[in-house]
Amino acid sequence: MSKDYPFCPDKTATLTIDGKSIELPVLVGTENEHAIDITSLRTETGYITFDPGYGNTGSCTSDITFVDGENGILRYRGYPIEELAAHGTFIETAYLLIFGELPTRAERQEFRGILDEQELLHEDLRHHFEGFPSNGHPMAILSAVINALGCYHPDLLEITNKDEFLRAAAKIISKVRTIAAWSYRKAQGLPFMYPDPKLSYCRNFLHMMHSIPHKHFEPTDAQVRALTLFFLLHADHEQNCSCSTVRMVQSTEANLFASVSAGICALWGRLHGGANAGVVHMLEKIRDGETSIPEYIEQVKRKEVRLMGFGHRIYKSFDPRAKILREAAHDMLNSTGYDDPLLDIALELAEVALNDEYFTERKLYPNVDFYSGIILRGLGIPVNMFPVMFAIGRMPGWIAHWNETNTDGVTKIHRPRQIYTGKKPRKYIPVDTRL
Ligand code: ACO
Repeated sequence: MSKDYPFCPDKTATLTIDGKSIELPVLVGTENEHAIDITSLRTETGYITFDPGYGNTGSCTSDITFVDGENGILRYRGYPIEELAAHGTFIETAYLLIFGELPTRAERQEFRGILDEQELLHEDLRHHFEGFPSNGHPMAILSAVINALGCYHPDLLEITNKDEFLRAAAKIISKVRTIAAWSYRKAQGLPFMYPDPKLSYCRNFLHMMHSIPHKHFEPTDAQVRALTLFFLLHADHEQNCSCSTVRMVQSTEANLFASVSAGICALWGRLHGGANAGVVHMLEKIRDGETSIPEYIEQVKRKEVRLMGFGHRIYKSFDPRAKILREAAHDMLNSTGYDDPLLDIALELAEVALNDEYFTERKLYPNVDFYSGIILRGLGIPVNMFPVMFAIGRMPGWIAHWNETNTDGVTKIHRPRQIYTGKKPRKYIPVDTRL
């Protein structure tokens, strides 16, 4: 069944161009966000819109996540992120994002059971890890192996019903942590640790990362809580670059494994999932005396560098995730007794920037990445694994968006247009006469 678009019956927009006026329908969302429907624009006028970076373009309607960047609001399926962070678990949140409602006790138990069943990788998949060089970037390994999962589950390349979708989603959410941990163990030359179904999702991941044969890694409760929050707060963020990539790849009717693998690649960049590593590099430079806070701020103002972990395309007052992670970073460091000097530098840097007109005029505030790197360091996660951690957390969101696109009955293949600015037609020049 096709989704109905929420048209506003008593409102249209009028566009006049080349002496011709057309009426364009208006849509209104549940949070009163308005949009002008321009689907008939090219047919009626010959014009297209121009919106580099898509800052004014709604590519879809979506029921999953609401972000109000002006007021620092983030809700998954209507639930405020603060409430989910205070009371929920990552698995419950994943279920909520993917299936639309918080699970009942029985549903949560069943979902956990399926995740436990799916946590092992096919033994043949181990050999894929042997093919990668030990210094191979874990993000490349993650993307490749998630895509390769499709080879082991050919029955799930076409998803036609809810049960198949549930199985594919559970496989990816469960196995992504095994793949991520093994990519790290491969780089360290350490034996792969098999998952332990007795452990919760986050404890199990830390076990696969840090246990060694005959020596089980035992994280503190505050470490597990910090990791839970890290994953939960990263679980979705509506139409960001990687989510839009997943939706775009799905729009070709590509399978779930391939689509989320593309999402991992999109997440990799420094301006997206790579930003938390950028934050740590920046803080380390200050710690190591290569620069100082005032010097770095001056460099930012000369536009030589960016203040990593600051600014957001959507949040223009504060990022609610950053607030929660700042507290979690404190609690975790207190629980382990480890005093990370990077946290002190981060707090001081934030204080300076938040009191400086350059940043306040441009509405630049700490984003989720500003404190997340400190949490990851406190969990013993190396910097090149930071975007991998983001990808594990974001997986439920990508899966939910893939499913929304797959089932809404209205999605067309994504195919933006362009304004061509190249050469006019010209004659082919034979090689001997080229200057
Ligand atoms: N440091 C310094 N100046 C900045 C920063 C920053 N972090 N971010 C934006 N600006 C400035 C720009 O130089 C520009 O100034 P100008 O008007 O004088 O030219 C103005 O603010 C607007 O910047 P844009 O690049 O147009 O903002 P955009 O919305 O495109 O960028 C982005 C958003 C990419 C997140 C940007 O703020 C940035 O690069 N931040 C640092 C990287 C980062 O933390 N990324 C993580 C984002 S959150 C996530 O992916 C989970």
